[in-house]
Amino acid sequence: MSEKKRVLSCIQPTGDMHFGNYFGAVKNWVDLQDTYQCMYGVVDYHAMTMPYNSVKLRENTWELIFNLQAVGIAPENLFIQSLVPEHTELCWIFNCFTSYGQLSRMTQFKDKSNQSEETEDGFVSAGLLDYPVLQAADICIYRADFVPVGKDQEQHLELARNIVQRFNNQVGKEYLVAPQPLFTEFTKIASTADPTRKMSKSAGEKHYISLFSDSDKIRKQIKSAVTDLGEVTAGEMSPGVKNLFNLLKACSKNEAYDSLMQDYEHGQLKYVDLKTTVGEALVELSEGFRAKRKELDARKKEVKEEIKDSSAKIRERARETLRMVKELSGLLNPKI
Ligand code: AMP
Ligand code: TRP
Repeated sequence: MSEKKRVLSCIQPTGDMHFGNYFGAVKNWVDLQDTYQCMYGVVDYHAMTMPYNSVKLRENTWELIFNLQAVGIAPENLFIQSLVPEHTELCWIFNCFTSYGQLSRMTQFKDKSNQSEETEDGFVSAGLLDYPVLQAADICIYRADFVPVGKDQEQHLELARNIVQRFNNQVGKEYLVAPQPLFTEFTKIASTADPTRKMSKSAGEKHYISLFSDSDKIRKQIKSAVTDLGEVTAGEMSPGVKNLFNLLKACSKNEAYDSLMQDYEHGQLKYVDLKTTVGEALVELSEGFRAKRKELDARKKEVKEEIKDSSAKIRERARETLRMVKELSGLLNPKI
């Protein structure tokens, strides 16, 4: 293995990618590839923790793989979680090093189990409770040093470090690596329809802008972005305007950003100018992504084979770790 530090991150196959995911997470993944040894997983096992459709799950998994490549993730750095079953085996071992109490206090578990309890059958799976343990296994199976994630994942990373510590203590060896989060600069992109909440698919169609939308739809969504909410405190930028400026910065349009910010500071900013500039910046990005996606779609079969190969390669590293973990834990290893 090379001397480069290892970076791992994963994303759930929930369908369409939006500018929130991109600027909050995936863009950073792309950039990290120059400096680190990177592994990025599409975590389909995690997607089973909430009610789901099995046909859609597989479709969404491939969809996301294609989209990740279209925005610049190298295929050799990509894997699909279910093609590396060692993740789930390590998850079981980790379960035995995880405190039930700590799991039941996880914010994400509380939010999602409350959501499920409100549905008709009120079903909350044990998988949902165990979700962060599988996440810890995703990270530790590659002995990753760094994990680029949004702030919302801080608690899960903390849990992963606790598991590592408890495991290393038990086996009397500093074998597993305690992972560190890498937070991105633009951690939160807000919904343009309601800038007080984050851009998200789950809130409904107007609350996210798809990365692969056609240009006119993007322009339209930015044009209708909420700027003032009525209760503007003097001297304070409204969340909607701030969000548009954030988007512009995220697109690396520094000159336009500075010039429009000056207008704002002099009380001369015309929202229409800000919106047009942001809209065009997003369209420019999206056009590049769509062109790449078209190329990939033209050789669909081959792209899928490449990902199966890269998953098999990445699996070799997972196997190595699992063998050692089983050895240290007092378990037996199969012959092959
Ligand atoms: P999700 O699609 O919600 O599972 O999120 C996938 C990744 O994108 C996570 O690392 C999130 O932290 C990040 N993310 C999702 N929505 C946003 C947003 N509106 N702003 C910034 N990052 C986001
Ligand atoms: N829980 C993460 C999210 O919702 C996804 C995830 C699963 C993950 N396994 C991971 C992120 C391992 C980083 C590392 O965004």
